Amino acid sequence: MKRSPHVERVSNVRISCVSDDDFLRLRKAAVAASARAYCPYSNFPVGAAVLTETGELTTGCNVENASFGLTMCAERNAIFQAVTKGESKLRAILVYTPSDNPSPPCGACRQVIHEFGPDTIVYSTCDGPDISCDQLSALLPQAFGRRSLK
Ligand code: THU
Repeated sequence: MKRSPHVERVSNVRISCVSDDDFLRLRKAAVAASARAYCPYSNFPVGAAVLTETGELTTGCNVENASFGLTMCAERNAIFQAVTKGESKLRAILVYTPSDNPSPPCGACRQVIHEFGPDTIVYSTCDGPDISCDQLSALLPQAFGRRSLK
């Protein structure tokens, strides 16, 4: 597989990133999704795009509510759309925020990413040059998951 220039090291293990083509597809889709964010309270639009094991791509944006606790993050909307399409194994998720610095997924989203792919590659991108790229297991060590219930 062609390696992307955005490969980074996590815990001294070289993580396998997506191809440049897939990265660009994810990034374009996440940017488009962020433009559809419904965020009148925070004015913080977030777009997310998910790449599944079968190569399917889904997207999501954050959707806020006057009852703030009902707000749904972009990442979870993108993941739930993948599951709705019958795709429950994630390869990568890319988050885009129109900001100077990348914004990593919140804790709730990390837990939901874990459910569908403990090894998911998580990109955070923005309008600045910085990109973060981590494996989910580094963002959510010792995660609670289905194994804990056995
Ligand atoms: N938000 C996301 O969409 N994803 C995250 O991982 C963190 C936060 C949204 C929720 C809310 O609409 C806004 O960003 C500010 O918290």
